[in-house]
Amino acid sequence: MENLKLEFNKAAQFLAAGAVESYEPKAKAALEALENGTCKGNDFLGWLHLPSETTQAFLDDVKATAQVLRENCEAVVVAGIGGSYLGARAVIECLENTFSWLLPAKGPRILFAGNNIGEDYLSELIGYLKGKKFGVINISKSGTTTETAITFRLLKKMCEDQRGKEEAKKVIVAITDAKKGAARTTADKEGYKSFVIPDNVGGRFSVLTPVGLLPIACAGFDIDQLIAGAQAMEAQTAVDVPFCENPSAMYAAVRNALYAAGKKIEILANFQPKLHFMNEWWKQLYGESEGKDGKGIFPAAVDFTTDLHSMGQWIQDGERTIFETVISVSAPNQCLEVPSDEENLDGLNFLAGKRIDQVNKMAELGTQLAHVDGGVPNLRIVLPCLNEYYVGQLIYFFEKGCGISGEILGVNTFNQPGVEAYKKNMFALLNKPGYEAESKAIQERLG
Ligand code: PA5
Repeated sequence: MENLKLEFNKAAQFLAAGAVESYEPKAKAALEALENGTCKGNDFLGWLHLPSETTQAFLDDVKATAQVLRENCEAVVVAGIGGSYLGARAVIECLENTFSWLLPAKGPRILFAGNNIGEDYLSELIGYLKGKKFGVINISKSGTTTETAITFRLLKKMCEDQRGKEEAKKVIVAITDAKKGAARTTADKEGYKSFVIPDNVGGRFSVLTPVGLLPIACAGFDIDQLIAGAQAMEAQTAVDVPFCENPSAMYAAVRNALYAAGKKIEILANFQPKLHFMNEWWKQLYGESEGKDGKGIFPAAVDFTTDLHSMGQWIQDGERTIFETVISVSAPNQCLEVPSDEENLDGLNFLAGKRIDQVNKMAELGTQLAHVDGGVPNLRIVLPCLNEYYVGQLIYFFEKGCGISGEILGVNTFNQPGVEAYKKNMFALLNKPGYEAESKAIQERLG
């Protein structure tokens, strides 16, 4: 099996000679700080060796639990937000048939909720689930996140009403802290099957824990291969691998060199719609990890070629503060050719007999050339194909790159103090017990 590759020559050409290489000592120091546990936020390094420490017994337990849900449910709702949601959705959408929801079901439909407070969204979800045999995977590390907790309250009641309390217990699974939080209290009191989110793994680094693995297994995908891919990338990015062979270290070095040169925005681009939620997961991973202390590259994302017809103008011609990282998938899993047409009214016969992916690849190359000409440094992450193994590699590549990059930047990569600000105001406005002083202050402020 090969490994994903990072190409950055079309980014380095925008930097002074040797600029990327000058980050080698910093990348090495960051890797050592992660490995030795001396980096900032070192109580959240559980993700670092997670792939190699994952046991077969644990994977078998996850798979057995997924099988119970698959056998007893027409739909499984994954309730979670942020790091308790995006990784599972990213992996499932990379791997599943894009139109699976319109095809005869081979297993339960995997639905996502608890990631917003939209009354219409929740009402429509409940409308869809009415009369259906559904299960719930309730995911919250803190066990108290409002979006997820409201959703779980609604779904628990509905599941119990439709199946009876005893049957509902078989199809509700909790993934939460070992001891604290309302999700743990409820799981223990009700006797739900539960998995623990390790204390030392933060939400956005948790996709390779049960947080991601159980929904992915429930959707019918091979979590052994996902972990195997992550293990390969763990080895490829280990502390003793030379800098020029370590794709995560080089990615961290290039993006920090570009940032220092005034490139404040990184646009992650793909040419496969299946990667849309991988973009979303990556935005959280890098945005929440690096955007603090008044610093950090702003992570943006686009789906090409779709967004070439909307954001393409800005990328080509707008303010030159951006660089672009493209996830390029070498081979599609399906085969489809452009048909020939006798009349050729659309003038497309010059493409007849070509694979659709050949056209896509020329769009990709043409875009790279145009954007580089337009002053946009370009990196490419090349994946052989989209399967569990390479998606596992991609996840770990980005996690390790993030750990190294945040340490080079000088921030605590693993905390997210900024996320609390809106919650405090929301709780004060909703008169949550314990927020009386904040409530009074906010009422005065609003007049
Ligand atoms: O990465 C993070 O820590 C956050 O995005 C959390 O995952 C998110 O806020 C959800 O938190 P919890 O799992 O506690 O419900």
